[in-house]
Amino acid sequence: MPAPMLLKALPGSSKYTDCPAEPCLMVIFGASGDLTKRLLMPALFNLHCDNLLGENFAILGIAMDNLDSNAFQEHMSADIRKFNTRKSFDEGAWNRFVSKLHYTQGNFGDQAAYQRLGEKMKALGSQYNTQGNVLFYMATPPSVFDLVSSNLDRAGIKTSSGWVRIIFEKPFGHDLHSAIELNRLLLKYWKEEQIYRIDHYLGKETVQNLLAFRFANGIFEPLWNKDRIDHIQFSVTETVGVENRGKYYETSGVLRDMIQNHMFQMLAYLCMEPPSSFKPDAIRNQKAEVLDAVRIMTPETVKTHSLRGQYGPGKRSDGTAAAGYRQELDVSTTSSTETFAAIKLFIDNWRWEGVPIYLRSGKSLWKRGTEIVVQFKQAPEILTRGTNASPGEPNRLIFHIQPDQGIELRVQAKTPGPALATQKVNMRFDYADSFEASRGTGYEVLLYSCMIGDATLFSRTDLVETAWRIAQPMLDAWAAEPAQDFPNYPVGGWGPKAAYDLIENDGRRWVEVIGRNVLNKIPLFQKCSEVFLHNLAINLRPDIYSQGDLIIRHGEIGKEMFIISRGSVEVLNEAGKVMATLADGAFFGELSLLNSIPRTATIRALTPCDVFILDKADFDRVLKLHPDFAENLKEMANKRYPGRES
Ligand code: BG6
Repeated sequence: MPAPMLLKALPGSSKYTDCPAEPCLMVIFGASGDLTKRLLMPALFNLHCDNLLGENFAILGIAMDNLDSNAFQEHMSADIRKFNTRKSFDEGAWNRFVSKLHYTQGNFGDQAAYQRLGEKMKALGSQYNTQGNVLFYMATPPSVFDLVSSNLDRAGIKTSSGWVRIIFEKPFGHDLHSAIELNRLLLKYWKEEQIYRIDHYLGKETVQNLLAFRFANGIFEPLWNKDRIDHIQFSVTETVGVENRGKYYETSGVLRDMIQNHMFQMLAYLCMEPPSSFKPDAIRNQKAEVLDAVRIMTPETVKTHSLRGQYGPGKRSDGTAAAGYRQELDVSTTSSTETFAAIKLFIDNWRWEGVPIYLRSGKSLWKRGTEIVVQFKQAPEILTRGTNASPGEPNRLIFHIQPDQGIELRVQAKTPGPALATQKVNMRFDYADSFEASRGTGYEVLLYSCMIGDATLFSRTDLVETAWRIAQPMLDAWAAEPAQDFPNYPVGGWGPKAAYDLIENDGRRWVEVIGRNVLNKIPLFQKCSEVFLHNLAINLRPDIYSQGDLIIRHGEIGKEMFIISRGSVEVLNEAGKVMATLADGAFFGELSLLNSIPRTATIRALTPCDVFILDKADFDRVLKLHPDFAENLKEMANKRYPGRES
């Protein structure tokens, strides 16, 4: 059955056409800052090159720096060479674009500056025939939103003969109380339909595709509920630390910085009810409803359903040493700001009742990746009933948001041969294989949408407050009880062990999307074929052990082998004597799997350890399908345990 034609239900909207945006004068507050040069200018230039800015468009920057329009144009011309995202830089196009940039110097608290601004706006409005349309862009901290809005009002330039819209950058408040206060202030000066709050995650193609995927395809909607879905995971892992943003980050932490905004937006897209159309408010109403149905934690459930972490000194994946959070610039040496958090939420509505939704995000982790995993319920064990074989894994639908961009459905398939055995395989769609789209900043679609008056991708007052309402109990509980165990994961690690416990205590586990680049760093897998690495990547299971944990016990029946990604372990014989120590890149536990004999040694974590685990069923399959690897492994095992032939 085809999906309802939601995309077509856009009367008169130019959202899915290639028309240039409406004429307008864009006034950027904070035009000499980082955001303007890194993101706004490259995005506007991309729109210009793609003919999505009409002729009747100009930019007027205002900031404290003492520049004139010529100097501003020179600065931007130098910066665009660093930050542009085009495959090839078109000098002619830039020269045409840069002539539309203008500047006026001004202090945001100075009345006279607004008079000058008003005069310039008037002159440019008639020079470019912008039809009285004005787009204000606040590339400034929220602390000046009030000041600028009130001064625009006083100078009489908050209204115009055309439309007037204003874009704000996050953070939209620091907690529920301040968000309500900020919204009150904004609504004092602007109407809701004039306010465009940017969440740059909503500018990502792969995030927008969540909606298209769910509502333009007929096959998923009937499965999209508590009867078919076991749980959902959202992971945003970053390899970067706080870099030079310590001052800001000390007042934020990952819950405010990533989860309350970007991750809750993705959650809303994935879990909302189908809207009746793709009109902005139809979508925003459904997003607000689903967030409103998220169960608010109590002080007790904060303890069981959430946890936080902070990175300590460690090594980045290229091996270089890196400082811990407390050693970063502008960070307190006793800081209790969280750089990692994992939480479990429930949505109390008919669709999702009882389905856990796990979210985690952190800085300075082992890999960069944003993924959403929808895990379906396990199929009945018909194939394996009455046999020793373990049942296959449940189906998983994985949305790769970044850096990989694609969608993957993991299913069981029969392995070739006479026996009826199955293996996990994937059906995968990669953006890069299907589309030629050039790389953008993510701001293009946001700016363009605002210029055509489409607020779909922007947060509304009620959405912002609802998202803070979900975060608030954690903020309160964490502020009342500073963490005692910080730092609790090293730079380059897999996050705190408690994050694994959070989900494993429910009998589930994080699905780590492991790229071939990660596996290539492990000596055992170097020079292995692409097919092998692909098979392995979807079969390896990451886990964390604390210092002193027994990973393997002598005499036990082997159920898995281990590869150390980070950390070291000691090998003990039956009498408890240390025989060897193994570290990053080494593997263990393969012998009892190769020979079907009980474990010949005990292995204990000497330091906190991040390991990849290959379960026996997958191990056997990998050996069968990749005889070269099997030989290699046997050879290495024989070398390590001379006299005992595998
Ligand atoms: C920002 C946060 O909103 O998002 C940063 O303030 C974070 O701390 C960034 O690094 C992540 O964005 P992206 O697009 O790289 O995932």
